[in-house]
Order: sequence, then structure tokens, then C-alpha cells
Amino acid sequence: MGGATAAGGAALLRAAAFAAAVLGAPGAVAQDAGRGAALAEERGCGACHGARGVSAVPLMPSLAGQQADFLALQMILFREGLRPVPAMAEPSRGLTDAQILDLAAWFASLPSGPKPDRAPRDAALAERGARLSAARNCNACHLPGYAGRANVPRLNHQREDFLAHTLAEYRDGLRVGADTQMNGVMHGLTNDDIRAIAHYLAQRE
Ligand code: HEC
Ligand code: HEC
Repeated sequence: MGGATAAGGAALLRAAAFAAAVLGAPGAVAQDAGRGAALAEERGCGACHGARGVSAVPLMPSLAGQQADFLALQMILFREGLRPVPAMAEPSRGLTDAQILDLAAWFASLPSGPKPDRAPRDAALAERGARLSAARNCNACHLPGYAGRANVPRLNHQREDFLAHTLAEYRDGLRVGADTQMNGVMHGLTNDDIRAIAHYLAQRE
């Protein structure tokens, strides 16, 4: 895992502890989806992620209906420079924890749905993806319908190209979350395996 240096690991642990403190303190910060909507408008999130969080741009993740805790945690990782995506540096700059929770509440409240430009189903590829996902117990954490829970993201209704891209990044140590669970899960999978898994997940309703 080339991307996970010792110093990076320590910083991630601090971010995870910090995020747990922010997210795990019910009532400490009241989330407000309405304020989140206004802030999303002001910061132009829709230009890349779609006006209502459903992305029509290749490799750009959809945010609609995503788990609020996962969204907030990723925004903290972006703000702290721990998930280094250049396009997200400016949109996340200087956000307060309260603003991050508002943005998360807004996008989580929007309905997710299959992408308008979803590729047609390839039955053999989807079948291979289903077998690989079962063998690696993806649904133990992401839940049987792949809607996710808390800091574990929704995978169905996500763009297939983004899923494939980000799964390869986990495998190659180029993306590390608040922990390294996903890096371990992806170990040893080939690009063809990843293509099949992404297709299977994106085809799910
Ligand atoms: C200039 C384009 C752009 C803008 C504007 C933008 N984003 Fe992003 N965003 C990206 C890209 C690119 C990624 C990550 C793609 C990757 O990891 O390969 C991303 C990823 C994310 C993720 C992680 C999603 C996931 O499933 O992993 C969240 C959350 C997010 N953005 C929220 C926001 C919010 C909230 C705003 C507005 C405050 C915003 N973005 C504005 C380009 C943008
Ligand atoms: C042990 C629990 C666990 C298992 C098993 C697991 N995941 Fe995950 N997954 C997570 C967590 C936690 C995250 C969020 C990590 C982060 O912050 O980057 C995640 C993130 C993801 C993401 C990023 C989504 C996004 O929008 O950015 C994808 C894609 C994904 N997992 C797919 C899979 C697949 C495919 C499998 C099976 C091959 C799998 N996961 C198995 C816990 C798990």
C-alpha cells in the first residue's frame, strides 16, 4: 500500500477519532438540510455532482441518498487533505464542522436512483461480479441491499465508472479511508474482477 505512510496513518487515526467525536455527539451540533442546500448552491457542488446529487459526469460520484455519516467523514478527510482529490480542495476549504454536517444532511435527504446514462446490463459480467462480491462478503458491511449504514457508504445507484475507479484506488493504496478495511478487502483482485464488481453493483436497483 504505497499511499499509506506511517505519518499518513497517524493523521488518519486523528481524523477518525475527530470525526467520531463530531458525528457521535447527538445534539451537540444540529444538522440542518435547508442550510446545507443553500451552502451547496453557494459552493457550486451541483456543477460536478449534479443539481440534486445525481451525477451525469463521468467519474464524478453521486451524492444523493448517500449515508450522512459517510458524507461528513469524507468531507472532513477532504478538508484535512487526507483524501487528496484536487477537485475537492476548494469546495471543502474552510468549512466548519457544522457546515459539513449541514451539507451531509442535505445530500443524504435527496432521493438516490439508477443513473440516467447507466450502461445496459451484461448478464455474464453481472453474474461474475455477484460471485466475487459474495466471496468477499461485501454485503456484511454495506448491507444486503448495498444501501450502506452510518460510515459505510451506499453502493447501489452509484456510477459504474466511479465505482471501478475508486475500487482500483483502494486496491493500489491510493485511497485510504478513516481505516484500511477497504484496502484489505480489495487485495489481490484483478482489473477484470473490479470491472465485474462495479457492473454488478451499478446494475442493482
Ligand atoms: C470541480 C468539481 C467538484 C466540485 C465543485 C465539488 N466536487 Fe465533490 N468530488 C469531486 C471529485 C472529482 C470527487 C472524487 C472522485 C474520486 O475520488 O475519484 C469528489 C468527491 C466527493 C465526495 C466523496 C463521495 C464518495 O462517494 O466517495 C463528497 C462527499 C463530495 N465530493 C462532496 C462535495 C460537496 C459537498 C461539494 C460542494 C461543497 C463538492 N463535492 C463540490 C469533484 C467536485
Ligand atoms: C469490513 C467492512 C467492509 C467490507 C467487507 C467491505 N467494505 Fe466497502 N467500505 C467499507 C467502509 C468502512 C468504507 C468507507 C471507507 C472510507 O472512508 O474510504 C467502504 C467504502 C467502499 C467504497 C467507496 C464508495 C464511495 O462512494 O466512495 C466502495 C466502492 C466499496 N466500499 C465497495 C466494497 C466492495 C465491492 C466490497 C467487497 C469486495 C466491500 N466494499 C467490502 C467497509 C467495508
